[in-house]
Amino acid sequence: MRIFEANISYQVCTFIEECLKNTSSFEIANKKMYDACGITTFFENNYDFQTLRESVSAVNINSVQEPDRAEYGDFQTNIDLANKVARQLRLKNISPQIVIEPTCGKGNFIIASLSNFKAIKKIIGIEIYKPYVWETKFSILDFFISNPNEGKPEITINHSSVFDFDFKSISKQFSLENILIIGNPPWVTNSKLGSLNSSNLPQKSNFKNQNGLDAMTGKGNFDIAEYITLMLFDAFQLHNGHLALLVKNSVVKNIVFDQKDKQYRISEIEKYSIDSKKEFKVSVEASLLSCKLNSIPSIVCNEFNFYDLKSNFNFGWLHSKFVSNIDYYNETKNIDGLCPFEWRQGIKHDCSNIMELERSNGHFINKLSEEIILEEDLIFGFLKSSDLKNTVIKNTRKHTIVTQTKVGQETSYIQFLYPATYTYLKKNISYFQARKSSIYIGKPQFSIFGIGKYSFKSYKVAISGLYKTYHFTLVLPQNDKPVMLDDTCYFIGFDRIEFAVYAIILLNDKKTEEFLKSITFSDSKRVFTKDLLMRLDLLNLATLISQKEIDEQIFLLNNKYGLNINLSQWDNFINEMVPKTEKQATIF
Ligand SMILES: C[S@@+](CC[C@H](N)C(=O)[O-])C[C@H]1O[C@@H](n2cnc3c(N)ncnc32)[C@H](O)[C@@H]1O
Repeated sequence: MRIFEANISYQVCTFIEECLKNTSSFEIANKKMYDACGITTFFENNYDFQTLRESVSAVNINSVQEPDRAEYGDFQTNIDLANKVARQLRLKNISPQIVIEPTCGKGNFIIASLSNFKAIKKIIGIEIYKPYVWETKFSILDFFISNPNEGKPEITINHSSVFDFDFKSISKQFSLENILIIGNPPWVTNSKLGSLNSSNLPQKSNFKNQNGLDAMTGKGNFDIAEYITLMLFDAFQLHNGHLALLVKNSVVKNIVFDQKDKQYRISEIEKYSIDSKKEFKVSVEASLLSCKLNSIPSIVCNEFNFYDLKSNFNFGWLHSKFVSNIDYYNETKNIDGLCPFEWRQGIKHDCSNIMELERSNGHFINKLSEEIILEEDLIFGFLKSSDLKNTVIKNTRKHTIVTQTKVGQETSYIQFLYPATYTYLKKNISYFQARKSSIYIGKPQFSIFGIGKYSFKSYKVAISGLYKTYHFTLVLPQNDKPVMLDDTCYFIGFDRIEFAVYAIILLNDKKTEEFLKSITFSDSKRVFTKDLLMRLDLLNLATLISQKEIDEQIFLLNNKYGLNINLSQWDNFINEMVPKTEKQATIF
């Protein structure tokens, strides 16, 4: 049954009808509802009161189509999960006097709090969507009709955006009481909101103060749940109590990562992994983040399975290093340093329909299945993350048009040197113009990104940033031309094949894998990033692996892939990795 687009039980419907039958003013109605369930302002105005009264008596119970609520990150917590969370907190002797649900939705965390915590004096819920405000109120009323002997705390359900709510004044008002912040803030990122043209964002949305480049590479993409959590730390970190929020794993990771600088007064940071498929029917890795407020700042997080409370591993800061598994890291930390070669991200063009081509009988076919004749000069073999399965790649399935040799280069030259390519690109200019990312604004018309001298290195050692496979691939030139990678891949480039082979042997060594496993988060959207790969100290690693092992690997690669490599360039390779200043010191 639904009223005001909110679910309402039969019990609540008849209760309201009965209770308000002879009531004419909404003030009196509010007093009656307060006595019944503790909610301070059940009706915000006379109109709400009159409409609800009419609705319940006419049993005007229509089923209304749910609107699209993507911008509100709307994943309601089921009551079972909310109860389990509350029970777990209770088992940890958490017994709040004040409960705050910052984005209370249909109110299941409020009901779970009423059922599980007996010392509550005040509950504050905030929700932006009016039908959910109603549904929360109806559920609370339902709870007290079913449990008439339960103590009634004072309850306020605010119809407001969490970003406009004054948490600091709540903190001041209840400065001595034990507090619990509980809930499940919206699961939506700022970039998703951007694409929906939504204003459901904090005013200062670039709160991480990232520069334009970070925003471009996705580093500036954050979940608004992260912003809300930090807002709550700002308001309540000096307040006795706890915070327990269901959030994406990436949010927990970012919060622990930022703890080093932010030093919020939170400790006992714990992450309880939940099964989001089962609980929310989505494949997003999420957890209950729990921590104690008003305590000495902690910079590590202990991870558990939510359902059996088995301890997994601890992650966070170990001295000056951020690691995903503190125990593993302790065993492999000697290769944590600075990679002597610069890891690069592949080409970004955001125009796969036009720019990704396959060869067929002397012409090319694009993703729109159009057959095209193009000059060869700007065509290069092209690999995507899904292509990086083998250890050595000599041929590519796809090709791309490399329109620039460095970022920002004019593309008008194509018209004069490569008329067929120009005609093709020009004919499809609308695809280039439709590219959403702001990086293309004001740039030459067929611009690409992730391009530079490094892109044209003949021999590359690459890894997919997206997959959890700790395996590196040697990419060889195709028809004497270097092969390009797309922007989901990272690579280091070499002019000599020997250096590339030595590098791949080091990178595919067990020690590298174990080290990478101790610093990567396998549930991240991008498991590998440039920052992580730059931590691989290949020079040190080279000293930890015997020449015999390297020789054996060279033998295997030569045999399997028809290479002809030996160790003759090994000393030069090592020398290439020695930092410039040290090299000079040995010369003089
Ligand atoms: C992930 S749902 C969780 C709801 C509830 N906390 C629960 O656990 O079931 C997020 C809720 O946040 C609400 N919401 C989204 N943006 C909001 C905002 N700016 N202020 C307050 N609530 C918001 C949504 O309407 C939705 O009910």
